Amino acid sequence: MIGLIGAMNVEVEALEARLENPVRETIGMDTFVRGTLFGQEAVLAVCGPGKINAALCAQSMILRYHPAWLLNLGVAGSMAADVRIGDMVIANAAVQHDYDTSPLDPPGLISKINLTTLPCDAGLRERLKKAAEAVGGFHVHVGLVATGDQFIHTDEARARIREMYHPLAVEMEGGAVAHACYMHGVPCGILRSISDNANTDSHMDYPSFTRLAAAHSQAVVERLLTEGA
Ligand code: ADE
Repeated sequence: MIGLIGAMNVEVEALEARLENPVRETIGMDTFVRGTLFGQEAVLAVCGPGKINAALCAQSMILRYHPAWLLNLGVAGSMAADVRIGDMVIANAAVQHDYDTSPLDPPGLISKINLTTLPCDAGLRERLKKAAEAVGGFHVHVGLVATGDQFIHTDEARARIREMYHPLAVEMEGGAVAHACYMHGVPCGILRSISDNANTDSHMDYPSFTRLAAAHSQAVVERLLTEGA
């Protein structure tokens, strides 16, 4: 069994449409759909935006379905000049950019697990990269993703996160899914296609490009599973 989580319907609906023999189950306010996806047993969920929605959904999925690995897929804002709308970002790790208990601890250090940088599984990352390159039509970047409970749309917020973490992309769930995976020892992947530049144009770019970006991420998952990875 493998697990797939998107924040919004548009981020997983193309995959859900391909799920054979779907069975729906609800835990709390999360709905999980399991079935066969491109020949593999899979469970899908739409967690809703933000870190707590994502972590709760990931933890329920882990405890109920015991996935061999869990992938958070969807769209993100670009945080680097060479990462353009439509490009793919595969995380090697994630930070929670709004976690800050300084001056008690270094900014970003997550208490209890004592990590600032949440790891992504190296093997899954490599398979995602190969799958993304095989799909083609966009640039593929591997690096840090920054997660927080904010839609980034001002130059000030963008600059602050860039200065602290130098991420390739910013979004609202990846670092929370990675946090839940870390706490349960489940390999984690984060796959994000760029929908906007996390700046003052985001409110226009995001609605225009989210469907295209979400389609890119889902095409990569199809390729990954079809290749039997
Ligand atoms: N997801 C897509 N674009 C985003 C942005 N600008 N900020 C946070 N999450 C996003």
